[in-house]
Amino acid sequence: MAILMCRPDYFGVEYEINPWMHIQNEVDHDRAEEQWNALFDAYQQLGLDVELVEPVRGNPDMPFTANAAVVRAGKAVVSRFRHPERQSEEPFWRAALTDLGYRLSQTPEGLSFEGAGDALFVGDRLFAGYGFRTDRETHAIVGEALDVEVVSLQLVDPRFYHLDTCLCPLGPETVMFAPGAFAPASARAIRKLVPHVIEVPLRLAEGFVCNAITVGDQVLSSVGVERVEGSLEREGFSGRGLPMTEFIKAGGGVRCLSLVLD
Ligand code: ARG
Repeated sequence: MAILMCRPDYFGVEYEINPWMHIQNEVDHDRAEEQWNALFDAYQQLGLDVELVEPVRGNPDMPFTANAAVVRAGKAVVSRFRHPERQSEEPFWRAALTDLGYRLSQTPEGLSFEGAGDALFVGDRLFAGYGFRTDRETHAIVGEALDVEVVSLQLVDPRFYHLDTCLCPLGPETVMFAPGAFAPASARAIRKLVPHVIEVPLRLAEGFVCNAITVGDQVLSSVGVERVEGSLEREGFSGRGLPMTEFIKAGGGVRCLSLVLD
């Protein structure tokens, strides 16, 4: 497994495009670097390949590589961001993914699609979120481009504006998710389609506990993951909480900082 990351050299909260972001809530830059390095080191220790994309000044959200694209079998559907504040990242992601050898495609202009922030594989199915950042119309287009079945899920709570803030695939048949962040029919669809589900209350999801990456049986997540440890253990996983305070100020955690490559 390989992960794409981007150092937080120019990271900051310089605009407000989700309810977590408050310009006056200043990022502690040294601490952000420490937190990012701890995640980077954890991946290295687990034996993952970490690819790095060069950060670009003036793009303070670039460390959130999950939003670059969704990838599968050598193909990448690159993002079109909802907010103009992040649209300047798009050419850099296209270049980085081309350099990594992916064949690129894009959703039509005028529709937004925010990559793996809103598109997560659970086994061979792509779970895709809509409601805040990604337009539902893109789901079928992404499914076709990657030749996979797509399940559209409606997000209803603005704090959980990307699917990866409230749902995490733990294995091909297991997810943890916060039902309260989904329209009732979407929460039902998840329970019906996935054999093993761990349900996380919103107050824990608020700590970005669902914004996690699983490596084998280890779930790398934010501090707070210990509060779902019992449920994780029952499914054969164990959680590891990393401090993410600085990135949470921008509305992101472990998974947002990590694009899973294949
Ligand atoms: N500030 C970023 C934004 O609002 C955070 C992105 C978090 N990424 C994620 N995959 N949820 O776009």
